[in-house]
Amino acid sequence: MKNKVLVVGSGGREHALAWRLSLSSSVGHVYVAPGNPGTASEDDVSNIDISANDYAALIEFSKSKSIDLVVVGPEHPLCDGLVDLMNEVGITCFGPSAKAAQLEGSKTYSKEFLQKYHIPTAAYASFTEIPSALSYLKKQQYPIVIKADGLAAGKGVVIAQDEIVAVAAIEDMLAGNAFGEAGHRIVIEEFLEGEEASFIVIADGKDFIPMATSQDHKARDDGDKGPNTGGMGAYSPAPIVDEKVFKKAIETVIKPTIQGMISEGCPFTGFLYAGLMIDKLGNPKVLEFNVRFGDPETQPIMMRLISNLDELCLAAIDGTLHTQSIKWDDRACLGVVLAEQGYPEKYNKGTPIYGLDASEKYSDRKVFHAGTKRIGGQLVTNGGRVLCVCALGDDIKQAQTKAYNHCQTISWESKYNRNDIGFKAL
Ligand code: AMP
Ligand code: GLY
Repeated sequence: MKNKVLVVGSGGREHALAWRLSLSSSVGHVYVAPGNPGTASEDDVSNIDISANDYAALIEFSKSKSIDLVVVGPEHPLCDGLVDLMNEVGITCFGPSAKAAQLEGSKTYSKEFLQKYHIPTAAYASFTEIPSALSYLKKQQYPIVIKADGLAAGKGVVIAQDEIVAVAAIEDMLAGNAFGEAGHRIVIEEFLEGEEASFIVIADGKDFIPMATSQDHKARDDGDKGPNTGGMGAYSPAPIVDEKVFKKAIETVIKPTIQGMISEGCPFTGFLYAGLMIDKLGNPKVLEFNVRFGDPETQPIMMRLISNLDELCLAAIDGTLHTQSIKWDDRACLGVVLAEQGYPEKYNKGTPIYGLDASEKYSDRKVFHAGTKRIGGQLVTNGGRVLCVCALGDDIKQAQTKAYNHCQTISWESKYNRNDIGFKAL
């Protein structure tokens, strides 16, 4: 009997995970709750009409279908403890416990953790009151980074070039106007220079296996300008992570984090994502932890994964990752996010999308859905980040050319994308 898998979530990440899981030789069928039109169109994948936040219904469904593996995509259910709830009733569910998920759920928690275990990161202080935050600010230099403590979909970070912007961000967040509950505590952090990379590993509590390296583009506009977003495109591998940087990331960040979580009494099982800033000398510092796969990094990484993802997740749950290895396609992959104009602020929904079927002809291209919806037969936009157009190539340059060529075959009235995804790798 082949395995039945449930993927929780509805974004591009979940489309890529569900697709890759469906291609695993040990998997018979993948359900996605709630999924999107992209997951609905995959062979051996079906959507079920349960929200990613309806934990009781997800548990009920998993029990009734005798699901063999649940993979939780987004951070909210992980931070709420969905894995704990599933485990309590005997469902095999991959991801960190709520306690371990604090690495992402609270910036203050993760900064204290980093400091305690001597893992390199920016200097910081944490505040709940405006006056003390402002008096700390007086002693800082610019640019300075202001972060909402809680989950804010990658948007709760303001890089302030001057005092006016910094004061406004602090007041906005702490007064609860921006990011609601997530902003009631803030972290003020030293600005780090360098180049970013996403360092993602699969971990079983004590051992880990690194994913292919990757880099995303968090700023909305070309040249890394404009507001921070969840990510406007990504590619793998990331040339900045050469062998030396890779080793440093493992030794100075990943190993002490896995060890530290054991010492904290909450060993980390799941996908652990360290957002790194790498300085001129190749030294990584942690910008943030995510306790899940990155979006859009997942899309190019899953395009390159050859190994059986189902087996890897099950081995991680069993604590037997040391018996596994991982194989990657040697080609590079680059993904461009097609967004609705105005994202991450105000944007339209419901705009008809044209030209989407063309990628099915190519084995080296794939379009992952994120914010889409089908109304009748027509596909329409249904979110800020709408699609992620991925292409494999002999190198980043070729992957980039193919991906951008393909972007041109897809159209809608208010389509927006960056035109320089991958520029740092060229
Ligand atoms: P975070 O959600 O903490 O990863 O922050 C989102 C983005 O803001 C990062 O990917 C960086 O581009 C930028 N950022 C965050 N913290 C810093 C920092 N201390 N110095 C420079 N840039 C930062
Ligand atoms: N791409 C960044 C993230 O998933 O948080």
